[in-house]
Amino acid sequence: MADSHDTKDYKLRSNAWFRQDRDGFGRRSWMKNQGRADHLFDGRPIIGICNTWSEFTPCNGHFREIAEYVKRGVYEMGGFPLEFPVMSLSEILLRPTAMLYRNLASMDVEESIRGQPMDGVILLTGCDKTTPSLVMGAASCDIPTLVVSGGPMLNGRYKGELVGSGTHTWLFTERLKTGEMTMADLSQAEAAMSRSSGHCMTMGTASTMASMVEALGIALPSNAAIPGVDARRYALAHMAGRRIVEMVKEDLRLSKVLTKKAFENAIMVNGAIGGSTNAVVHLLAMAGRMGVDLTLDDWDRLGRDMPCLVNLMPSGKYLMEEFYYAGGIPAVISEIKHKLHLDALTVTGKTIGENNAEAKNWDTDVIFPFDKPFKPQGGIAVVKGNLAPNGAVLKPSAASPHLLKHRGRAVVFESIEDYDKRIDDPNLDVDENCIMVLKGCGPKGYPGFPEVGNFALPAKILKKGVRDMIRISDARMSGTAYGTTVLHTSPEAAAGGPIALVRDGDMIELDIPGRRLHLDVSDAELEKRRKEWTAPTPPSERGYYKLYVDHVQQADRGADLDFLVGKSGARIVRESH
Ligand code: FES
Repeated sequence: MADSHDTKDYKLRSNAWFRQDRDGFGRRSWMKNQGRADHLFDGRPIIGICNTWSEFTPCNGHFREIAEYVKRGVYEMGGFPLEFPVMSLSEILLRPTAMLYRNLASMDVEESIRGQPMDGVILLTGCDKTTPSLVMGAASCDIPTLVVSGGPMLNGRYKGELVGSGTHTWLFTERLKTGEMTMADLSQAEAAMSRSSGHCMTMGTASTMASMVEALGIALPSNAAIPGVDARRYALAHMAGRRIVEMVKEDLRLSKVLTKKAFENAIMVNGAIGGSTNAVVHLLAMAGRMGVDLTLDDWDRLGRDMPCLVNLMPSGKYLMEEFYYAGGIPAVISEIKHKLHLDALTVTGKTIGENNAEAKNWDTDVIFPFDKPFKPQGGIAVVKGNLAPNGAVLKPSAASPHLLKHRGRAVVFESIEDYDKRIDDPNLDVDENCIMVLKGCGPKGYPGFPEVGNFALPAKILKKGVRDMIRISDARMSGTAYGTTVLHTSPEAAAGGPIALVRDGDMIELDIPGRRLHLDVSDAELEKRRKEWTAPTPPSERGYYKLYVDHVQQADRGADLDFLVGKSGARIVRESH
């Protein structure tokens, strides 16, 4: 047994690396060049700390410090922590879009976990895509896993106004278009918006995904909301380090926590917090890795009656700092506990009901009570019809009530470049009753499924004081954005979906209560247009772009690469030398 090369023949998989033989000698020797003492190689659990720190990812800029607190906890419990880097996805800097690389980063995470001697792993996540990419990669390995989020930035403030990441980027840009702000004003506002370590502090995608991992039960209670610079964020990291060692001893693997019940809980919590539409694609992809059967219909079914309780930007007025003071996700869970599967197991070894039994809501202006909600509809609405046979999504809490049922004339942009060129043309034939359609921004089309689905209104409409119009696209939208935007239209234009066939002047009907999206054009005419349609040329014939475009699934399947769906565990049978 002791000289087997197969990790399954050992009590802990890391023991297979540090055997009493030539290979074990070599590994201990090289590891000792960092001052590691003998007793660390006595067969104790080795805990990987998967770090997405990068100076190109400012939201995760404090992660080396957080990792040190995780290490404290691991050492205290008799474990041996080892930190390792993986690809870090910066929402704000990566081009053409961080989402293009979510699946690539998940492959890095999966192979880094499987190929190295670790028995449990802590995932340090923050900026939007760093959460799903790490969870997806870890899910495919299925070892004990605990997520520690980096926490949101402190509130932004500019000239007396509460300023939210992203949300105010759109607002300030509109004010620049209408002449209410100057470039000099914007420069001051930049520093006022991002003034501490942490990720976007609106209920954008980063805060949503931190909330999702808490609701899924793969992070400790209160993980989502503690600000990135609050001392309690570091104490939470310390406690996570302690707990992961126990999880290894209990063999509490990810597959025991990430069950269908856990995903259903997360979808309901997403509705209650008015979370980002991006959670839809990320949770579908995570579920796909775990082999949990989750569909867009689950999102609609579970979100339909879930009110939005949380008064946070972009749907409301507060930010994550107030959300933490009001009780955070534990308080939300306590408000909707009659809806949740309270028996779902979590990384604490207890159920989500037990974890949050004592939770209280300390501020009902930030977290409204369930029976007096902030907005009646919090969940994600899934619309279907001849324009989106496989579905499209909309966030009712961020939409304008008067547009939830509307028929309008299509104004079509064939690509983001076409939109950029014509949107502010004074001769563009558009009014506020039109429905703007943007194509070529889906997973294959851009490529990478960018967050351009909340494309701005024409300047001439904004100048009239109109702030919202229906927009339909195959793109995603930033979780910090707002508006009546139909997103993730599937199949996308580049895959030959009906959205590719929409032309200027067509009439479109959107009926959110009826969950319908209809292009009022005859089947015969659509067939004629389909024969005239040609698929776009792929952006590249080599490298990751090619792999991605050839294999990415549509939005309704989570936009994962087809060959990554499922898990293959953490077993390794062969030696490196
Ligand atoms: Fe990183 Fe928003 S840009 S979380």
